[in-house]
Amino acid sequence: MIVRKISAIAAALTLFSASAFSQVLPVLGKNSLKDVIAAMTLEQKASLVVGTNRSYMAPPEAAPGMVVRPTPDFSAMIAQMQSEGASFEQAVTAFSQGKVAGAAGEGYKIDKLEIPGIVYADGPAGLRIDPTRRGDSNEYYCTAFPTSSVLAASFDTELVGEVTRAMGNEVKEYGVDVLLAPAMNIHRNPLCGRNFEYFSEDPVLAGKIAAAYINGIQSNGVGTSVKHFAVNNQETYRNGIDAHLTERALREIYLKGFEIAVKEAHPWTIMSSYNKINGVLASENKFVLTDILRGEWGFDGFVMTDWWAEENGARQIAAGNDLLMPGTQHQWDEIVDGVKSGRLDEALLDKAVENILRITLRTSTFNDYKYSNKPDLAQHAEITRRRGSEGMVLLKNDGALPFTKKTKKIALFGVDSYDTLVGGSGSGNVNRKYKVNLDEGLTLAGYRLTPSVSDEISSYVKQQKAGMSENFWTVPVIPEKPISSVMAIQAAKESDIAVFTIGRMAGEGGDRTLTEGDWFLSDAEMDNLRTVCEAFHAAKKKVVVVLNMGSIIEMASWKDLPDAILHAWLPGQEAGNSIADVLCGKVNPSGKLPTTIAVKYEDYPSANNFPFSNDNPSEVCYDEDIFVGYRHFDTKKVAPLYEFGFGMSYTSFSYSGLSVTPSGDGFDVKVTVTNNGKVAGKESVQIYVSAPKGRLLKAEKELKAFAKTALLEPGKSQTLSMHISNYDLSSWDSREEAWVADKGTYTVSAGASSKDIRLTGTYELR
Ligand code: BGC
Repeated sequence: MIVRKISAIAAALTLFSASAFSQVLPVLGKNSLKDVIAAMTLEQKASLVVGTNRSYMAPPEAAPGMVVRPTPDFSAMIAQMQSEGASFEQAVTAFSQGKVAGAAGEGYKIDKLEIPGIVYADGPAGLRIDPTRRGDSNEYYCTAFPTSSVLAASFDTELVGEVTRAMGNEVKEYGVDVLLAPAMNIHRNPLCGRNFEYFSEDPVLAGKIAAAYINGIQSNGVGTSVKHFAVNNQETYRNGIDAHLTERALREIYLKGFEIAVKEAHPWTIMSSYNKINGVLASENKFVLTDILRGEWGFDGFVMTDWWAEENGARQIAAGNDLLMPGTQHQWDEIVDGVKSGRLDEALLDKAVENILRITLRTSTFNDYKYSNKPDLAQHAEITRRRGSEGMVLLKNDGALPFTKKTKKIALFGVDSYDTLVGGSGSGNVNRKYKVNLDEGLTLAGYRLTPSVSDEISSYVKQQKAGMSENFWTVPVIPEKPISSVMAIQAAKESDIAVFTIGRMAGEGGDRTLTEGDWFLSDAEMDNLRTVCEAFHAAKKKVVVVLNMGSIIEMASWKDLPDAILHAWLPGQEAGNSIADVLCGKVNPSGKLPTTIAVKYEDYPSANNFPFSNDNPSEVCYDEDIFVGYRHFDTKKVAPLYEFGFGMSYTSFSYSGLSVTPSGDGFDVKVTVTNNGKVAGKESVQIYVSAPKGRLLKAEKELKAFAKTALLEPGKSQTLSMHISNYDLSSWDSREEAWVADKGTYTVSAGASSKDIRLTGTYELR
């Protein structure tokens, strides 16, 4: 009682002395944002909207037409911290070493106003931070989860939810506030170096998968940064390339996925991209960042730039780009000078500050969350193994898979069988504790590897790797070792089956190339595949090819050689186990292609305009307009090799009872799927809609919804329900500057792929 009285008196005295003798500053969380902002100096506001430059990355090379600032001088910001009470040493240390080592960036903090510096870290396939710290014996490894291609190919929002809830838990438990993911640019061209970080050629698939991703991460109370907004569909000259496209293509293809993600999942933040959109840098593009994103879609978080994207800081703020990352002195100067000279309206700066502070209130750092630094990595590895296998796509199977009971001994070819690729390079690469290669996965699953093959290739791989080193931009690629026919014939005698892995590595900063060893098989790969197939087929044994890459390659020239082809993507650190689970039949593959595999590269509608147009490295013209991916192949009647949405199973499914019922703002679709085969499996159903003839040229059909069954035992059925709104049917009419859906009869198709349409119904739009 006495103690309580004394503290009450002390509190009253403190209050009295504070109000009587000093000015009480408002603080974040206790006072209104308005009051907190009113208490800030212009310099503090500028510091808050410019990151603290704590980044492990150097500024990029200048692209044509782009200015790259020298390493910034942060003297003004350090002076600012000193004026707030920090010693010079403290200020410098704070700049050079953030709260979480290896995070991509950190925000500015203002202690007097109780504004913390929030922490941002990559990336799409798991948290990217430093796994070890100087003077600290603890480890901070993160899980390399299945990459985005796997998530999209699953066509399964529930799967994405499970993976990203686990991923978000690592973000939270390692003290990071915002994960710089998901990345969701459209697969406009198969050679884009970051396609493994992106989802699909289709905006509805990309948007729904992204929404599930954001919801999963954010269910942990940490944020996401949906990137790269927008039209960042290539890495070549990414810092300055000007993408020319119609407003219709912009809205229907390149923004649609972001729109779905914003409306369905409310990401805390968005990351603007490096490129220009119709002449205006994405980070200075008011039309996209303010008019559309906030005005039309109601986005209520904040926008940050991609790292080092800058030309003019004041213009970025004025356009609605609230935070400039990782922050340069030059941007800070422009903002301060801009306001002083009247070129930047201070109200716009205040708005940016307010947007950042509103989100800051939700962060772990602000709420002083006591993170453990001990997420359950074993549990996350289990999720990675199980879910990684479910996004794999079985492209061909002439009775080779799953392995039969008689399969005991495997001849394992391909360097990537012994150095399996689990993720890409660049900021999307995760510092994982370990990875499981395919040789290990098969051995753990109880198979024996034919030593004459595995000993030779694995020691070659070890020897090659010894002389190579990995860095941020590149993960070394080991060339195939030539296989002699003597070796292949001997292996065919000794083994029950052959598995041949073909891998490709890619990552940010560069696109893939139309060359042998990248888009095409290398001579050594082609020769080895031929040699192995000849030897095994002569011995009446099968050959299975495993594709281990984040995107796709040319396949028409070799797909007839092997008996089965499994696209395993980059499935995360449990790769070897996940692939082995599918090969042996423990998991029935249920992934479907999120991107069309064309017969030849020239069949892609962007082929003539990638990575730039008119021999001008500063511009790329999206001449194909809205006809991207299957929209082009279907409408222009170009036969693909493997169509969008295609993927086989070890069982077979029939579709029945399609119903299309008007409901609310559109219609409900129901379809029943039955497993008619002999093993349990999952099936994803795709709903395509074809519009009646109307004002605008439309694609033959467009994906509008999809859903996946649970694991169906043989003979079992499940009815899937989806809703499609009239707005979903609409197209952007540039003449009317509006979304329009023509009245009339729409064909509603339920497909196992974009070509394998099983049932059709109709919907009348009146
Ligand atoms: C990448 C972003 C990434 C950022 C921070 C940039 O180079 O484009 O995707 O989030 O770096 O690492």
